[in-house]
Amino acid sequence: MAETPMNIPTVDLTDLSSGDPARVERGAAALREAFGVFGLVYVKNHGIDPQALERFYDAFSAFVARPEAAKRPYGRADIWYQRGWTPPNTEVAVAGKGQPDFKECYFVAPYPADETSALEFPQIYPENVWPSDAPPYFQEGFLTLGRSLHEAGLQLLRGAAVALGLPEPTFANLCQRGPHVTRALHYLPLNASQVNTDIVWGEEHTDFNLLTLLPGGRFLDPSGRPAPRPDDKSGLYLRTRATPEDPKGHMVRGTAPAGCIVAQVGQQLEILTGGTFLATPHVITAPGVPAWSRQSAAHFMHVHTSHILFPLEKFRTPDAVRDYAPPVLAGTYDIKTLVDIGLAPQSALSQLGYRHYDRLNRMRAEGSEK
Ligand SMILES: [Fe+2]
Repeated sequence: MAETPMNIPTVDLTDLSSGDPARVERGAAALREAFGVFGLVYVKNHGIDPQALERFYDAFSAFVARPEAAKRPYGRADIWYQRGWTPPNTEVAVAGKGQPDFKECYFVAPYPADETSALEFPQIYPENVWPSDAPPYFQEGFLTLGRSLHEAGLQLLRGAAVALGLPEPTFANLCQRGPHVTRALHYLPLNASQVNTDIVWGEEHTDFNLLTLLPGGRFLDPSGRPAPRPDDKSGLYLRTRATPEDPKGHMVRGTAPAGCIVAQVGQQLEILTGGTFLATPHVITAPGVPAWSRQSAAHFMHVHTSHILFPLEKFRTPDAVRDYAPPVLAGTYDIKTLVDIGLAPQSALSQLGYRHYDRLNRMRAEGSEK
């Protein structure tokens, strides 16, 4: 894939939390450009411990290496795979060609859900699913990583609000108690006939949540040992914003500078800002050599299910209203997207508040209507 070097800004979290107006503005300016032009920012001083991350990836490797039959009980279609193991060949990118991603994953919520949200959206706020004989540090490493990424994300969301001239807690408030999930991903090795074809590890898509934090991953060589990137072809690429001169945008490598993590704008943040911030289309390409795999992690911050997704008043221009209408409940948006990407069944859509049809049909079938 062609690589175009671009100057994606880096934001320093200690600028955003400094309380010094000049430093806060420096951070906000970086976010304004990064989220507005690329939909992505590099983050330094993020608080993620690289050694703990390596240890967690080792624990995740030990789980992934188990036979499929041992992992199968943790693949929970009944909760739309929102906790536990996502088997290979399950998730599909909406804009892709129907080819499932070459990956298997594990979802965990780093914070417990509240009872009301879980009652309203049981498949979106289920209890965590842990392997009964989890490898050492699997559970602790997962929760530690998820919570550290979440804290960094909250700082970025506060900075993003300042960058747009909104009250600082605007986005952080919208995602309070939301269905945030942390995911560990294992991209599967390709064989000799699959490499250098159209097959990618993760087909091009935009994330459907508010903000995604990516702490950085690692490649595994054919023997399963962590190793440097095998070639220049593999990794995260993103598509830049369309312009009149460049209507398709172009692909840019999204690898963070050493010591930085990546934060990406999701669809919910794009909708709330009427397109001022951009959900980045991105793709994970596989190397041109067989038998390599890759591990990575992502933390997905979500707007709480009971909020409406629609441009905030400040961004509600006629164009934005047209582009993002109709307003939709975040929880409903989540369900629709989980159906679209193959994690929830189609039947989830026909149950959105329509149970009274079923009741009437049942009554008629029993001859009880008058
Ligand atoms: Fe993604």
